[in-house]
Amino acid sequence: MCGIVGVIGLEDAAGALLEGLARLEYRGYDSAGVAVLNDDGIIHRRRATGKLAALREKMAAGPLEGDRGIGHTRWATHGRPSEENAHPHFGQGVAVVHNGIIENFATLRRELIEKGETFQSDTDTEVIAKWIGHDIAAGKDPKTSFADAVSRLQGAYALAVMVEADPDHLYFARRGSPLAIGRTEEAMFIGSDSQALAPFTRYVTYLADGDWGWIDRGRMTVFGADGAPVQREEKISSASAAIVEKGEYRHFMAKEIHQQPEVVGRALTGYIDAVEGRTVPIEDEIDFAAIDRLLISACGTAYYAGLVAKYWFETYARLPVETDIASELRYRDVVYPEKGAALFISQSGETADTLAALREAKAKGCHIGGVVNVPESTIAREADCLYPIQAGPEIGVASTKAFTCQLASLASIVVRAGVARGVIAPDEEVRLCRVLLEAPRQLAAILTQEASIAAVADHVAGARDVLYLGRGTSYPIALEGALKLKEISYIHAEGYAAGELKHGPIALIDERVPVIVIAPEDRHFEKTLSNMQEVLARGGRCILLSTAAGVARAQEGGDLTAAITLPAIDPLIAPILYAVPIQLMAYHAAVIKGTDVDQPRNLAKSVTVE
Ligand code: F6R
Repeated sequence: MCGIVGVIGLEDAAGALLEGLARLEYRGYDSAGVAVLNDDGIIHRRRATGKLAALREKMAAGPLEGDRGIGHTRWATHGRPSEENAHPHFGQGVAVVHNGIIENFATLRRELIEKGETFQSDTDTEVIAKWIGHDIAAGKDPKTSFADAVSRLQGAYALAVMVEADPDHLYFARRGSPLAIGRTEEAMFIGSDSQALAPFTRYVTYLADGDWGWIDRGRMTVFGADGAPVQREEKISSASAAIVEKGEYRHFMAKEIHQQPEVVGRALTGYIDAVEGRTVPIEDEIDFAAIDRLLISACGTAYYAGLVAKYWFETYARLPVETDIASELRYRDVVYPEKGAALFISQSGETADTLAALREAKAKGCHIGGVVNVPESTIAREADCLYPIQAGPEIGVASTKAFTCQLASLASIVVRAGVARGVIAPDEEVRLCRVLLEAPRQLAAILTQEASIAAVADHVAGARDVLYLGRGTSYPIALEGALKLKEISYIHAEGYAAGELKHGPIALIDERVPVIVIAPEDRHFEKTLSNMQEVLARGGRCILLSTAAGVARAQEGGDLTAAITLPAIDPLIAPILYAVPIQLMAYHAAVIKGTDVDQPRNLAKSVTVE
């Protein structure tokens, strides 16, 4: 993961680097560092473990002057989060920041040690700095040294490199990890994404995989993977320069949970004509009538949105769907259909595994739909068709509003597919669109129950283990509930298909394990209730999420520890609505435990390593 930034031509390079890094902190916050080349011709650096605030303090105590520099915010891969392992890394007269993983670093390190180099960190990155520095010291010119070093690298990288022997250029390269170049009249920038460049410029060039080259104060020179010079098109970025604030909320996650009625409404406007009550065409959309199978892939929360969509596609469009986690899909020997189609779901649009799986499916001839939040991201750009989810910037590391916007967008795509395949009749299309358009109002109603949901979180916060159960589309919601709880409260939690409990997990049930049962009144309700009775019969503590009638029915069969009552709604939107109480429960459990809700330990918002 990690975020990188570089600037040449701005008087206060260090200040600009910190500003860019603040926008990249979502990529990792184990440590941060900057290096600046000043008029004495020497590279100086500051590094600090922990969040960017720690680096800011160091920089305030020891400012760096110069008009060019590079910066980094780290999510540790090789080497623990420590100051020695923080970037930038140094070679002789060289500083390097890197996002990605150098797979052959051990070989390169051995070669360098044989040549007399010594290493100060446990990182894979340091070999790049040492390699370039060694070659320059041996008399090679900086450009050739950089190009040679890049040609030796295996794995994934986005690099920014600064060289004392060539103070008028910053070098860059990308393979597998994203990188963009920004331009103004007087300065040039390197950034992991357009978000990092937004405070400085809207003129952004996205590099293609394998690109490398350099920038000076007014120009960039790019070579493709084959070493031939290339031109890359400059775009006007829509990334906002405004800093996203928490407003009245204590955490970004709380704000984002509460934004859901608004952003889900906005997501739906991209797919449904509210006046007509019909779905609208999307540019280059998948021809669902022409396919007999759909592949859906993603990671984490986005994958769970894909799992919900599988149930929906099968029910409402009679379309067989295969789902797989992207990190598995990319290494499976998938049997792709002749003229297949695939949906890849990603909030960030940069997740390395999802992107690699997308490229594989595209190479096999699939028509690719990208269900993405960040429209300028790599996945959005590489997909044949962009299905936008319009959740707006999601800052909290735990995904909330992006999940419900993914669901709302996918539900709309499903309705359109159902119509295209002749499964949904025109009247039914109007009815389902109306049902979807009801979701924002229902979400707002659920959010008014926050205080009572927070009280239920008390039962969860003290537990060591928690189980989540659901059937049908509530099964992925159970998985998502467990993921949300573990990532922000560090409580061990697992989601199970309710019917699967008796095949093993029921052995875990005792009075210390809260079991959260997600049971909207749909066709699975009675069966889920039976599974809940099996838990109660073994002394388990059940927390039920259902309608008022559902809760009343359940109470006839035994004592519930708690219940959260949700509105009676059409089953189509149940997963969108039931996602909210499980988010709030995880949030309040984390607040009770006092964890770092927005930046939980070991995680990062955008996972750009495999
Ligand atoms: C969990 C969470 C992650 C992401 C996953 C994929 O709250 O946010 O599981 O869903 O890392 O990220 P994107 O959607 O950016 O591809």
